Amino acid sequence: DMNRFVDQLMKKMTLEEKIGQLNLLTPGGGVATGAVVSKDVEQKIKEGKVGGLFGVVGQDKVRKAQELALKSSRLGIPLLMGSDVIHGHKTTFPIPLALSCSWDTAMIKKLARTAAKEAAADGLNWVFSPMVDIARDPRWGRVAEGSGEDPFLGSLIAAAMVQGYQGDDLAKEDAVLSCVKHFALYGASEAGRDYNTVDMSRLRMYQDYLPPYRAAVNAGAASVMSSFNEIDGVPASANKWLLTDLLRKEWGFKGFVVSDYTSVNEMIAHGMGDLQTVSALSLKAGLDMDMVGEGFLTTLKKSLQEGKITMQVIDAACRRILEAKYKLGLFTSPYRNTSEARTAAEIMTATTRRQAREAATRSFVLLKNNAQTLPLQKNRSIALVGPLADNKRNMLGTWSVSGDWKQSVSILEGLKAAMGSNATIHYAKGADISSDSFEVARSNALGVEIEKDSRKPDELIAEAVAAAAKSDIVVAVVGEAADMSGEASSRSYIGIPESQQALLRALKKTGKPLVIVVLNGRPLTLEWEAANADALLDIWFGGTETGNAVADVLLGDYNPSGKLSMTFPKNVGQIPVYYSHKNTGRPFNKEAFAKFKSNYLDVENEPLFPFGYGLSYTSFQYSDLTLSSTTLRKGEKITATITVTNSGNYDGEETVQLYTRDMVGSVTRPVKELKAFQKIFLKKGESKTVSFVITPDDLKFYNANLQWVHEPGEFMVMVGTDSQNVKEKKFELK
Ligand code: IFM
Repeated sequence: DMNRFVDQLMKKMTLEEKIGQLNLLTPGGGVATGAVVSKDVEQKIKEGKVGGLFGVVGQDKVRKAQELALKSSRLGIPLLMGSDVIHGHKTTFPIPLALSCSWDTAMIKKLARTAAKEAAADGLNWVFSPMVDIARDPRWGRVAEGSGEDPFLGSLIAAAMVQGYQGDDLAKEDAVLSCVKHFALYGASEAGRDYNTVDMSRLRMYQDYLPPYRAAVNAGAASVMSSFNEIDGVPASANKWLLTDLLRKEWGFKGFVVSDYTSVNEMIAHGMGDLQTVSALSLKAGLDMDMVGEGFLTTLKKSLQEGKITMQVIDAACRRILEAKYKLGLFTSPYRNTSEARTAAEIMTATTRRQAREAATRSFVLLKNNAQTLPLQKNRSIALVGPLADNKRNMLGTWSVSGDWKQSVSILEGLKAAMGSNATIHYAKGADISSDSFEVARSNALGVEIEKDSRKPDELIAEAVAAAAKSDIVVAVVGEAADMSGEASSRSYIGIPESQQALLRALKKTGKPLVIVVLNGRPLTLEWEAANADALLDIWFGGTETGNAVADVLLGDYNPSGKLSMTFPKNVGQIPVYYSHKNTGRPFNKEAFAKFKSNYLDVENEPLFPFGYGLSYTSFQYSDLTLSSTTLRKGEKITATITVTNSGNYDGEETVQLYTRDMVGSVTRPVKELKAFQKIFLKKGESKTVSFVITPDDLKFYNANLQWVHEPGEFMVMVGTDSQNVKEKKFELK
């Protein structure tokens, strides 16, 4: 049916109309992430020169745009209406990096479902998510948008999000097309500088970086966005190996590929040729839709006339766009997402807010808690200080284009609401987010909110110290402004800005118990904070319900359970530092420093906090690990079993993690790879036995010929509470 419909439609289309379908425009409106925005959008829609729009949100505006396409263009083909729905739409959930620390794929899927419903109720039919770029360099600001460093966890989350957005049928009113991005390897930009070069072995690509994209494709992702970076010397948007050989032929992808913002044009700067050349290269490589740059719109006809491209490639790309529209049901109900009643009923409801609050509590990671400093006793007086403590504007985090910060809950508001009228909270701002003039100037140029207080730094600190002096305990809320991470927000220094560190040092001197709550879009270097705080809670950017969720956790109504999905380095010099590293020929033994080993003179190899790490208000005891057998044969399985006991004073949830190590291989293998995990809830005093089944398939890897194989030999299984703290047993694969 679809084929027949599209065939018939394409027969009626002129060359210009076909090329028009390959053009994605934005009139701007807060979503311009490059130097260009589209001009004469209405006129172009009328002329059939537009396949889709983004940055146009709201049922009324979408209806108008569709009306224009339907009534004023010759063939009346409806538009794709996209948007960056990255962590929720209007109801903003925690940033993706935070959500990944919940390790709760069922919840993440549900949140994507909710985001899709809200986006659809707001007129949209396409979301530019999930972002599944594996990232091991926290200098890169866009780590905030992904799920961290690990391909196994990243793949599960990628699939969950695609399923959540698209539901079981794209034609349903609450489904949207998902768009997996940024294909591929964007997270490996050299030195963590955004838009920078990527260069990596095929082995590492296949093993570590490609799996989440593939998982998303396998889950049925309808579209893919090509990345800004080059791969093997050819920018992704014109990389035929990537977009055709790998994506379509090897993986069987059936949807369409859209470029990133002007990434076709940017190939001129990459040094690949003029606009006509790079546009033709992109189309031939397998790119179907050109975002904002209009290289396709303005040059493909000429390239066809000059024999540089064929009609078949134009037809193939056009067909893929029309197929997506067909699958959405746009040809039969072009106004499907434009009812006012739905917008009112489905956006920012009590239910979506409850989900946001729960998601935030489940994303927070407790990094330190000495002498049970947390949870806070409700009857004690609190000095709540720091530039992010009463700061609604910075709660949502990066890429919350449709979120309204005014509807978010600040931490001060959340604590007040939870503690009621007998709360004693002494609030003081304490510091500006940053007072580094270079940083502030660049941030302001980006539109980041780093306002300078009219009071002097010393006065701000003195107020905070006075608040501490009259309180039982200090809660300092510090960290990054929301837009200090995200796109175009790379940092070379990733600590708490100096203005806030000065505040922390002064608070420490008061001798009051010090709880540090950190907001961040990336792993930060927190050595001083980890050494000097009595408790350290990482809350990332928690979204609309941040303040309420922080209150839930600080006051013990929710016992934190998040586990890091990305390693926290001790300093920037350790980067990249990640748990699944290779052993090297000169492995370092941390018990005894030795020269001529792989290490540093001035810092340990170990990170500050490892992958998988995260504390609870209670404590979990792990028994020894047992294996059902010490040999594993083809077609068989073995079971790894461990008993976990809640030996502390609170009910709580633990994420039991299983890693393996392949001791000998035809290529070198990492010292650890996450292969499975289970989240278990244990009442105080309760024990549970957790079993993991391991099959030979779980032990497969890419060999030097890029074949997915397992090889006989010795394996180590490790189970524990994080990637460092594990119980081990060996077995042999025969
Ligand atoms: O979806 C985004 C992408 O992640 C970065 N460049 C712009 C796109 C559209 O806004």
